[in-house]
Amino acid sequence: MKMFPICGLMISVTLLLLIPTFSSPDCNFPAVFNFGDSNSDTGGLSAMFGQAPPPNGETFFHSPSGRYCDGRLLIDFIAEGLGIPYLSPFLDSMGTNFSHGANYATAGSTIRRQNTTIFQSGYSPISLDIQYAEFFDFLNRSQIIRQKGDVFKDLFPEMDKFSSALYTFDIGQNDLTAGYRLNMTTEEVKAYVPDVISQFTNVVKKVYDRGGRSFWIHNTGPVGCLPYIMDRYLIAAAQVDKYGCAAPYNDVAQYFNEKLKAAVHQLRKNLPLAAITYVDVYSAKYSLVVQAKKLGFGDPFLVCCGHGGKYNFNNARRCGATKMIKGEELLIAKSCENPSLRILWDGIHYTEAANKWMYDQIANGTFSDPPVPLNMACHAHR
Ligand SMILES: *[C@@H]1O[C@H](CO)[C@@H](O)[C@H](O)[C@H]1NC(C)=O
Ligand SMILES: *[C@@H]1O[C@H](CO)[C@@H](O)[C@H](O)[C@H]1NC(C)=O
Ligand SMILES: *[C@@H]1O[C@H](CO)[C@@H](O)[C@H](O)[C@H]1NC(C)=O
Ligand SMILES: *[C@@H]1O[C@H](CO)[C@@H](O)[C@H](O)[C@H]1NC(C)=O
Ligand SMILES: *[C@@H]1O[C@H](CO)[C@@H](O)[C@H](O)[C@H]1NC(C)=O
Repeated sequence: MKMFPICGLMISVTLLLLIPTFSSPDCNFPAVFNFGDSNSDTGGLSAMFGQAPPPNGETFFHSPSGRYCDGRLLIDFIAEGLGIPYLSPFLDSMGTNFSHGANYATAGSTIRRQNTTIFQSGYSPISLDIQYAEFFDFLNRSQIIRQKGDVFKDLFPEMDKFSSALYTFDIGQNDLTAGYRLNMTTEEVKAYVPDVISQFTNVVKKVYDRGGRSFWIHNTGPVGCLPYIMDRYLIAAAQVDKYGCAAPYNDVAQYFNEKLKAAVHQLRKNLPLAAITYVDVYSAKYSLVVQAKKLGFGDPFLVCCGHGGKYNFNNARRCGATKMIKGEELLIAKSCENPSLRILWDGIHYTEAANKWMYDQIANGTFSDPPVPLNMACHAHR
């Protein structure tokens, strides 16, 4: 009789000690494979079409770094948070090291292939299906190359890193703007969103079939709060929301996000061994716009690096644009004095300071469905 309470006590103490440590251990992701557009391009487009010009990179890398930003992107903070090096762009043939993953993102990428060239419309030819093809090629050939030994062995990941890696996705924004560029109405853009989502889920399934198990999927941001949209399309006063963003473009982004979230729920059913986290980056970005002044960032629409126009953004003279003046090439679309006091870098992309703020919001799971933090995104919740 007397033994029971003691045993009970011992069991509860043991459970108390076990629960916090064993219910959700840190995943220790050894690698990250990223798919996306300029929001997470660490040099892919620059490797193909020439470097993003200075002053890109000035704050952190102190020279152009293939990023459309003054410094680090969300994907860089994610890598830092997981304790791995910044991801090398798959397409870069110089100085790359893929031992901890690879980045397939390129600026201007879409989920669907576009029927136009980058020279006509600015969209990258490296759509998501091509990014997957590159990943597949990498998965296969990296193992063959590792067998050469020496330096090759530590430039490429071991096979088992592919199944324990985190697969991150941040793509879709350009699929939405592509329709508007073709003069489609909002209804017409919405009509093709299901096709975009279905092509997205196909790629997630293919990565799963190749052994991928942990997925961290960013939804698309409030594109209607970005000057490159606000400036390009005429927006009636009635279509401006109470914070100053162009409501129809944000509505389309939210429509895309609803469909994406539903698709993620369906994927969890179809891919029983996967842990898929849907991250509401839209809300993190929008709350930054709303709170910009309170957080010390000032006007949320004022671009740091640009030249002229209502928002210091002129599409014909984007960040880094130069002009020949008396035989000398001068930088006219320059950086502002202190990029860390702005949320917008160039009218399309955020500053490093904004990216860091967003990272701090999303890393602990506050914006995740299910609410798992980044370092625990290998644990399936269903
Ligand atoms: C590649 O990166 C890994 C991890 O940082 C490092 O251990 C390795 O030495 C690097 N390889 C080369 C050739 O730089
Ligand atoms: C490109 O053209 C093909 C054939 O007309 C069409 O099926 C496809 O939907 C188009 N893609 C886009 C993104 O508009
Ligand atoms: C990997 O590449 C080799 C050589 O091209 C090919 O024979 C093999 O089928 C590929 N593996 C897979 C899984 O496709
Ligand atoms: C869209 O409309 C604008 C203005 O009417 C026109 O200049 C442009 O050529 C149109 N674009 C397409 C792809 O039809
Ligand atoms: C997550 O981090 C943000 C930013 O630091 C903080 O405001 C929020 O309270 C945190 N949430 C949780 C659940 O820890």
